[in-house]
Amino acid sequence: MVQEEKQYIELSLSEIPNKTPIRKEIGGLRGVLIVRIGDDIYAADDECPHEGCFLSDGYLNDEDRTITCTCHWSTFRLTDGASLTPEVTTKPMRLYRVERRGDRIVILIT
Ligand code: FES
Repeated sequence: MVQEEKQYIELSLSEIPNKTPIRKEIGGLRGVLIVRIGDDIYAADDECPHEGCFLSDGYLNDEDRTITCTCHWSTFRLTDGASLTPEVTTKPMRLYRVERRGDRIVILIT
């Protein structure tokens, strides 16, 4: 039986700027959007599900917990990935699981 290799990003909370989306590369191919709002961390595929622009270049609305892609203005909810602009795309943002391990943040890429 072949087991799929698990990939992850591990970093400390202090490495993630508050309310400023960042992009982390994994495996040289995949970009991961990481957003910190206070103590809450969200992670998602950084490629917009509409046409692939980087969501880390988008506008964060920390009160609504949404991010808006600047290419065609689709907006996604960070809590569940849902598109809030079905006139642009109904595809959701792909979220990744975030775990706290002591003072470390681990993002599991599946
Ligand atoms: S690529 Fe993001 S809205 Fe079109």
